[in-house]
Amino acid sequence: MDITLSADRRSDVQVYPIYKDEHFMYPIRDADQKPGHAIWFRSRSDEECNILAVSLGKRSEMKLDTVRRAGGLSARQIQKEGLAKAYLARKAEQGYCSSDSVTPSEWLHSWLEGWLLGLYSFHKYRTSSLKSVKIELVIHPEEWPELTETVLLDIINTAKIRAAGTMFAKDLVNETPDYLHPGRMVEWVKERFKDTPVKTKVYKNEELVERQMNGLLRVGAGSVYPPALIELRYEGDNSLPLISLVGKGITFDMGGMNIKSGKNLSDARMDLGGAAAVVGAMDILVSLRAKVNVVALVAVAENVPDAYAMLPSSVVSFPNGLTVQVANTDAEGRLVLADALLHAAGLGAEEAIDMATLTGNIGQALGLGIAGIWGDAAMTESLVSIGERNGERLWPMPLMEEYESELHSDYADLCNIGSSSLAGAITAALFIRRFVTKSMKWAHIDMAGTVQYKRDVGYSAAGATGYGARLLADYVLSRHGSNIT
Ligand code: BES
Ligand code: ZN
Ligand code: ZN
Repeated sequence: MDITLSADRRSDVQVYPIYKDEHFMYPIRDADQKPGHAIWFRSRSDEECNILAVSLGKRSEMKLDTVRRAGGLSARQIQKEGLAKAYLARKAEQGYCSSDSVTPSEWLHSWLEGWLLGLYSFHKYRTSSLKSVKIELVIHPEEWPELTETVLLDIINTAKIRAAGTMFAKDLVNETPDYLHPGRMVEWVKERFKDTPVKTKVYKNEELVERQMNGLLRVGAGSVYPPALIELRYEGDNSLPLISLVGKGITFDMGGMNIKSGKNLSDARMDLGGAAAVVGAMDILVSLRAKVNVVALVAVAENVPDAYAMLPSSVVSFPNGLTVQVANTDAEGRLVLADALLHAAGLGAEEAIDMATLTGNIGQALGLGIAGIWGDAAMTESLVSIGERNGERLWPMPLMEEYESELHSDYADLCNIGSSSLAGAITAALFIRRFVTKSMKWAHIDMAGTVQYKRDVGYSAAGATGYGARLLADYVLSRHGSNIT
């Protein structure tokens, strides 16, 4: 998957980004000028080269994610054809790769990010696949006169780092639970950050008991693999206020004693989407050696029924003194997040963002293309705008005070499910808020809808999207005064 700078245009295919109603060397039908369309012009002789024209729609309407999606689509088309070398053709004189709102640097960065992510596939368990196909992408530096060679190399490097973090998140989410159980999740994350400036701590067994992290302990009680809280500390600049990224890492959500039923429960392996995003974001920040101060907290457990599993109606007590009636063991995410958020405050975090595949209800509310966000207004505004640039979209949701009473319990301080069948994503957010210390600014993201695509979309092959890794990394960068790309 190499990206090289070279003046040698010889390749198996030349990729041309094209815009609606702008001149191209071949005529393109109106219908094919919409974003998401790619048209092949096959070579008929050895002297000619294959051409792939990829539509970006109207230049004036171009967004970064249009470019990213076009990059991903091209990569996948070329991968399917089994071609080894592609050349990204730019007609500088026609200003092909920019617009009034997108600079050439942003354009190229987005394209490369999309290109690299587009080539991702989870093929570990397939006996025949595209896995052996490696594609080299060539960029001709003279065609990018606005960007020096150093800048070009920097763009390539950053795109690779961001794609790698996102693909790590995808791998975690796509993996199957027999392999990726809590023990292996811990090992995998430790392995990823060994020999980096990240300090890794893992709280398990007695350490969780000592800290009264009963949410994690009780949710994980049915599993043969003990639950854990992974703490990843990266002090790129510890004079900055500490930001905490908190992820739900349920390696398999069988519902616990409230066992899930259904014909196909394969999606229950993706209940660590929040954890994957958090870990992916850390990977990006550390690889960039960013000057930030951040701690990732990953709450890892397997939610399965068993003789030792937590029974519905049990009461769990938390380190902040609150007791919770667990009316439904399938509402487990909020219990493990409660422990992790309290731990974040204990570490002195000034801000925390928790990310979780928390409720089916968020998909009902917003569909599968956009996640819901609750909490601090300024954090929300910033995350929403980063999400728009990144194609990791977010929609602000309300913390409805009058629904708080739905969390009433007859015999504990609160109940882990709302009494109404409506607005489950909102009551879940209200529940989590009870475990957020006042000194800490907080935002909560429910990404149960965006964790996967059922079909190929843009730069995401069907399966895990890696949603959130770039979003969280960019948020931390922007809060700590670094440029986001
Ligand atoms: N992990 C699920 C939420 C989920 C559902 C994620 C579908 C992805 C796809 C969560 O732990 C859960 O089971 N939530 C329940 C809560 C209910 C029992 C209050 C839900 O959403 O149905
Ligand atoms: Zn559940
Ligand atoms: Zn869950």
